[in-house]
Amino acid sequence: MEDITQAHNPALPEFWLQKDPDSAFADMRHEKAVHWHDEPASDWFPEGGRGFWSVVRYEDVVEVSRDQETFTSENGTEIVDMTPEMVHIFGGMLNMSGAAHAHHRAIVNRVLTPRTVEALSDTIRVHARRCIDRVADRGSCDFMQDIVGDFPAQIICELLGVPVDDRDRLVALTGTALSAYGTAEAYNAVLEIIAYAEQLVAQARAQVSDSASFLRKLLSAQVDGERMSDHEIAVFFALLVTAGIETTATSIGQGMYALSLYPEQRRRWQEDFQQLAPRAVEEIVRWVTPVRYFRRTATRDAEIAGQPIAKGDKVVMWYTSANRDESVIDRAWELDFSRAEDRHVAFGGGGPHFCLGAVLARKEMTIFFDELFTRLPDIEVCGEPERLHSNFVNGLAALPVRYTPA
Ligand code: HEM
Repeated sequence: MEDITQAHNPALPEFWLQKDPDSAFADMRHEKAVHWHDEPASDWFPEGGRGFWSVVRYEDVVEVSRDQETFTSENGTEIVDMTPEMVHIFGGMLNMSGAAHAHHRAIVNRVLTPRTVEALSDTIRVHARRCIDRVADRGSCDFMQDIVGDFPAQIICELLGVPVDDRDRLVALTGTALSAYGTAEAYNAVLEIIAYAEQLVAQARAQVSDSASFLRKLLSAQVDGERMSDHEIAVFFALLVTAGIETTATSIGQGMYALSLYPEQRRRWQEDFQQLAPRAVEEIVRWVTPVRYFRRTATRDAEIAGQPIAKGDKVVMWYTSANRDESVIDRAWELDFSRAEDRHVAFGGGGPHFCLGAVLARKEMTIFFDELFTRLPDIEVCGEPERLHSNFVNGLAALPVRYTPA
């Protein structure tokens, strides 16, 4: 296997500490389609992991995403290897493949529908207003902590019928699960989320909780006469909270930052909000790429863009790189709401695991920016963003903003 410089190894924390990781990916894309990367030590592999292939170009990410027979999710979708039990606990359906995944997804699709999301619209608006109004008279604050704050978490909790008193604890556990992804600490946090969810599912089954209607629908949804077990629903619950909070917060926070870098796009959007919203939201998701990668494992000897891949090798699709691939996306570095087509892989490369929450994420972003521009129309970024330096979520820890107090 070939030796790639440390500076170009996205498995290393220092890769994400550099000022411009996107440029490092651009170098990789120009050099070749697939790169071998060694893996540093982790909790489970003190000697270092077994290494992985990085797929950095757009077309190859799409191809790998769509070929689950050759590039399966069922050995895990994070870079670090895990035991089968952990792969199940951390991902549920995200880490399933083939008929089992299709069956699971078909059941979930009966419940998490566009109509379910539409029915949440008013609730989403109430939470957006609450988040903005609580700091509207201040004149300046931190956009991430003070405005976005608990917005996406509250929406997922509303969707799942989590009682208000339990939400802080659940959100804290989700934070631990994501901040230390792949560690023993994260594993224990996910186990606690699942144990909590099992209680909620039991209540929904016993019909003692009025608010658990989503869970009740999941309990009764069936495909080919089969339903999900209580445990499967609890694992799905954990997937929804871990997949749906940080991603949406990142889209909104980094979206605000992107709008500050491209004031002309922002002006256009504010002038014609509803008309431009679908395109603007999609372009923000592409530009931000909240989820940087997901991984697959080769089920047989294969090839990607001429690079032989051995059976069992890990293959990492860098969405963050694919979405800046200028050979496919014209002026990919720019935020531009007038693009003719929404070509991006931020919600996945279009395969069987395409994001189940995309409709909800788009709805949350649209309503949030609508309320933001209505209530604080001159809000502007007034300092440097503080990045999270994670190889998994392209998040912000802080983003200073100022505005005329409302
Ligand atoms: C802008 C926000 C979001 C982004 C960028 C995003 C990104 C992604 C990506 C890239 C995948 C594909 C994984 C793969 O191919 O292995 C995915 C899957 C998934 N997402 Fe999202 N997501 C977002 C919001 C959400 C929300 C709000 C929810 C929850 C309601 C959610 C739930 C899921 C689920 C359940 C899957 C697994 C689908 C499956 O395995 O079939 N996501 N997401």
